[in-house]
Amino acid sequence: MPRPLLATIHLDSMQYNLARVRACTAPAKVWAVVKANGYGHGLERAMRGFADADGLALIEPEYAVRLRELGWTKPVLLLEGIFDATDAALLCHYQLNSAVHTFEQIELIEQAKLTSPIDVHLKMNTGMNRLGFSPKDFPAAYARLRAIPQVRDIALMTHFANADTIKHPRLTLGAQVDAFNAGAKGLDGPRSLSNSGGVLHQPELGALLHNDWVRPGIMLYGATPGGKSAQDYDLRPTMTLSSEIIGIQHLQAGDMVGYGSHFQASGPMVIGVVACGYADGYPRHTPHGAPVLVDGVRTTLVGRVSMDMMMVDLSQVAGARVGSKVVLWGAGLPIDEVAQAAGTIGYELMCAVAARVRVAEGNLHG
Ligand SMILES: Cc1ncc(COP(=O)(O)O)c(C=O)c1O
Repeated sequence: MPRPLLATIHLDSMQYNLARVRACTAPAKVWAVVKANGYGHGLERAMRGFADADGLALIEPEYAVRLRELGWTKPVLLLEGIFDATDAALLCHYQLNSAVHTFEQIELIEQAKLTSPIDVHLKMNTGMNRLGFSPKDFPAAYARLRAIPQVRDIALMTHFANADTIKHPRLTLGAQVDAFNAGAKGLDGPRSLSNSGGVLHQPELGALLHNDWVRPGIMLYGATPGGKSAQDYDLRPTMTLSSEIIGIQHLQAGDMVGYGSHFQASGPMVIGVVACGYADGYPRHTPHGAPVLVDGVRTTLVGRVSMDMMMVDLSQVAGARVGSKVVLWGAGLPIDEVAQAAGTIGYELMCAVAARVRVAEGNLHG
């Protein structure tokens, strides 16, 4: 028998969330972001869940090739572009669209013996200071790409640093949009600005935010970059991490729980042992009090998370027993809420689900 720990991927929710993106952003085209193994959901599952997307975007060239091998025929975008000359050859061979964010990448494309036309996304740094040309260098980078005969379409892109708060005190979305519009002035090409935050803030930003393509990731997986909850945006969970109670302990006042004897009972209580630990991807630093569902009842984590197990308070869960169903996140327990309790973000939880965790597919709504 395998351990009861299971990540169930809800393909129906993936489709639903993609439809939500379209409802917010039509007529823009949608790159569904599937980097990091489809945010931990599996590349092939993400490809099927987002089959209606206009393209798939990711970081890893080898997974871009894998998408082609799996039969994905629509556009594929490499969000960090190419890393060396061999990647440049892949662009033609597999018809990959590449972000271009350095003059070194332009040089690689200039020197590559490209045998067919390629499309690129030229990236501008509008204040995040991660990837991209400065607004000042942007027109020169554009001109150099335009001079390469095999380069066909040049889309213009940037990335938002503070997608969770529209009016961030240091760098607002509006300031980044203004910088982008100034740097891209007079340059032809489709625009691609919005990640999930940009998509979710589209109503407030209105006409200021012109997107021909949007690039949502986290909202497609039923979580948010911060701010309001996924439910507020009518997004559905795409992954439920579930397990079972595999042991029960009856404590008296003063009894301690787990490594480091971190938790001490203040009175009689019943705790359950859950088959899920930090080696499965549940963060070790999650404090007592983090939410967990047992038999559909909301309760809390107690004591330190260990490698393969964690303990939960069963005092208020009537009828809890060995074999009771536990939800760590997903259906009935938003991943963002667990992430917040753990001092992290939903992105990290879903991406960190370990290889040893069994994965199944199952619809959220029948
Ligand atoms: C360039 C780019 N676009 C889009 C996304 C998707 O972002 P999110 O998951 O916040 O929607 C990412 C993710 O980091 C990214 O790096």
